[in-house]
Amino acid sequence: MKSWLKITIIIIIIIGVMQFFRPQKNFTTAEAPNDIAAKYDVPMGVLMNLYDGCYNCHSNYTKYPWYYNIQPVGWWMAHHINDAKRLVNFSEFAIYTPQQAAKKFKEIKREMDEKGMPLKSYLLMHKEARLTSEQYKNVSDWAQKMETQVQESIDSAKGS
Ligand code: HEC
Repeated sequence: MKSWLKITIIIIIIIGVMQFFRPQKNFTTAEAPNDIAAKYDVPMGVLMNLYDGCYNCHSNYTKYPWYYNIQPVGWWMAHHINDAKRLVNFSEFAIYTPQQAAKKFKEIKREMDEKGMPLKSYLLMHKEARLTSEQYKNVSDWAQKMETQVQESIDSAKGS
């Protein structure tokens, strides 16, 4: 057999075997009593932007596209979701301590000012997640306001 043919067959077999290893889905039918909106004031416009732009990676409720079933695409997505949730999980946001929450609001503001989120690779496939400059600014202003509020409550609890 020609060597290119052998290599092609081997690659096809490897890709075929990969299909049997689907990562577990990041989805639950359980309610989210600790969602960010349960504890913090989130105006409806901002909440819609977070739902459309961020929840697929930063929550316990990912809506999966069909190509998640193709490996290694699904692995790559699962990796992003794990990384994203470790840093900010909007479904668990109410559990964060005030110190943690203040830091996360600050990071959200920074990401919005830099237009660093949602990830560029994600925006190619998800038009609904594209934010206008005005929406980036709205979310940024809100995050800034929340950070200040939480920081003030931390300071007043310290009695300073
Ligand atoms: C396609 C998945 C995806 C989407 C959608 C997404 N993120 Fe992320 N986000 C990530 C990943 C992966 C990381 C961690 C790695 C990195 O910073 O690139 C992250 C990190 C972050 C961080 C932490 C940065 C840090 O340095 O600690 C913040 C804040 C954040 N995202 C906010 C958002 C906001 C707000 C949205 C919606 C407007 C959003 N993300 C949408 C995947 C996503």
